[in-house]
Amino acid sequence: MHTHKQCVVFLLCAQVVLCQRKNVLFLVSDDMRPEIGAYLGPDFPSSVHPTIHSPNLDALASRSLLLKRAYVQQAICSPSRTSLLTGRRPDTTHVYDLKHYFRNVGGNYTTIPQFFKNNGYRSIGMGKIFHHGKASGHDDPISWSEPYYHAPNEKYRSNTVTWRAVAKAEYDIRPLPDMQIADYAIKSLRRVAPDAKSGKQNFFVAVGFHKPHLPFVFPEHYLDLYPKNDISLPDNPYAPVKMPEVAWINYITQEMGNYHDIKILRPSGNINTTLPDDLVINLRRAYYSTVSYVDDLVGRVLNELETLGLLRNTIVSFWGDHGWQLGEHGEWCKHTNFEDATHAPMMVRVPGITDEGLVTEGLVDFVDLFPTLVEAAGFKPLSLCPEDSTKIELCREGNSFMPLMYDPGRKWKSAAFSQYPRMNYTVMGYTMRTDEHRYTEWPEFIGEPHYKPNWKKLHGVELYDHSVDPEENYNRADDPDYKKLRTQLSIMLRRGWRYSQPKETISVSVKGSCALYP
Ligand SMILES: *[C@@H]1O[C@H](CO)[C@@H](O)[C@H](O)[C@H]1NC(C)=O
Ligand SMILES: *[C@@H]1O[C@H](CO)[C@@H](O)[C@H](O)[C@H]1NC(C)=O
Ligand SMILES: *[C@@H]1O[C@H](CO)[C@@H](O)[C@H](O)[C@H]1NC(C)=O
Repeated sequence: MHTHKQCVVFLLCAQVVLCQRKNVLFLVSDDMRPEIGAYLGPDFPSSVHPTIHSPNLDALASRSLLLKRAYVQQAICSPSRTSLLTGRRPDTTHVYDLKHYFRNVGGNYTTIPQFFKNNGYRSIGMGKIFHHGKASGHDDPISWSEPYYHAPNEKYRSNTVTWRAVAKAEYDIRPLPDMQIADYAIKSLRRVAPDAKSGKQNFFVAVGFHKPHLPFVFPEHYLDLYPKNDISLPDNPYAPVKMPEVAWINYITQEMGNYHDIKILRPSGNINTTLPDDLVINLRRAYYSTVSYVDDLVGRVLNELETLGLLRNTIVSFWGDHGWQLGEHGEWCKHTNFEDATHAPMMVRVPGITDEGLVTEGLVDFVDLFPTLVEAAGFKPLSLCPEDSTKIELCREGNSFMPLMYDPGRKWKSAAFSQYPRMNYTVMGYTMRTDEHRYTEWPEFIGEPHYKPNWKKLHGVELYDHSVDPEENYNRADDPDYKKLRTQLSIMLRRGWRYSQPKETISVSVKGSCALYP
């Protein structure tokens, strides 16, 4: 017995000495729906599209686990990012808007960059990771090892129009903000590379691109990739049949209404109206161009990682903070509970595990990324948050999807959950994506100090059958043929995410020299 114990201690020591933790390159884009080559197929957000040019993200996907069905917890910037970065859902962060800061209204939760910083990593952030300003106490300084970087040209404006293609002569003199962010990312990687390679200090480098968020401002040559004649109107520019009114957002009351080229048209933003065809085509073309522009910037950063010889020991994650409606249902931007708004791109490359490229159709929540990165880097798995985790700094409300890296087809979550408030936060739409359905209820949202759903008072119910209606064009909530299913889905939705977790949530430690935990 004594000998055995000694042996274990010896092995531990030997492995700790050999152990080199993995770095993390954390790439983020704003408002990018999963409309990139790697997603082509049933999970693509549009049935009508030109050839998408995203060679760099596609190449990253081919060496990653590509999460084809990952869902954000709320389809708007700060709530989605706050949730992902704290690993907790909006009803725990209490961030449903662009004003409140989770440390003030939720709890003093440890964020992803803060976790790595606390574990000795050099944590560096730039561009848009948290939502800027008071929504994050100005980029949550406690999360970073050094001052946060914003592009000097961040306020680059479009002359208040929704899109503008910028000539080379112009951006050569005055680079676009995301170009500056890519430059800073490259400089930062060069700076941290020697210590990361010698084993002196690992890095967590977070690079947040602002595009393809409105206004679509991009180098003009990207338009060449998308001839105007190749761009189609969405084939469902109307609200779903039998959609409850509460599901609709009048996009004119949101960011879209701020742009001059929209204002002069005086669109109502009402249900079953949309923008003029020519503008729709131009907006779609500009959006695709902006996606390809971001793709190139991602490529520049990844090339540098490779040139520096860091690929082998660096985890790379990429995600977009939510989907985007490009005129489908006549909607624009996000702010809804539809598939187009809640479905977003996510991929994670873990060297030695995903090198051959893995694709999963398993349902994943964005809160799953935190526990996944923790395990992929070789740390002890996080524990599940209790119902009230206000006082707990570090826990998870998602599930590490490391098991999907060993078996992408395994049985996984039975549903992914999102939510979106309406009517000045007095109604909360809770939605759930299962393998074949989207089910949504819009209960009254009341109580002190924190609001809760009152399931007895519903403002609407939606049931979309993705097996026959992937565009969500027909709400079947009141269809007698779906009565039994609706009852089952309602029970599942109200019980919530805890009951939809993978049955055996085994934790898989990372193979290789970092399998041991501190
Ligand atoms: C939040 O937690 C950090 C350490 O994780 C601590 O330094 C800070 O004082 C805490 N803030 C509050 C308000 O409790
Ligand atoms: C919107 O258009 C769809 C399809 O034409 C129709 O079924 C639906 O009733 C309309 N909704 C409203 C609120 O007008
Ligand atoms: C929304 O609710 C807040 C807080 O209850 C209140 O101060 C505000 O006036 C409301 N706004 C509207 C438009 O009703």
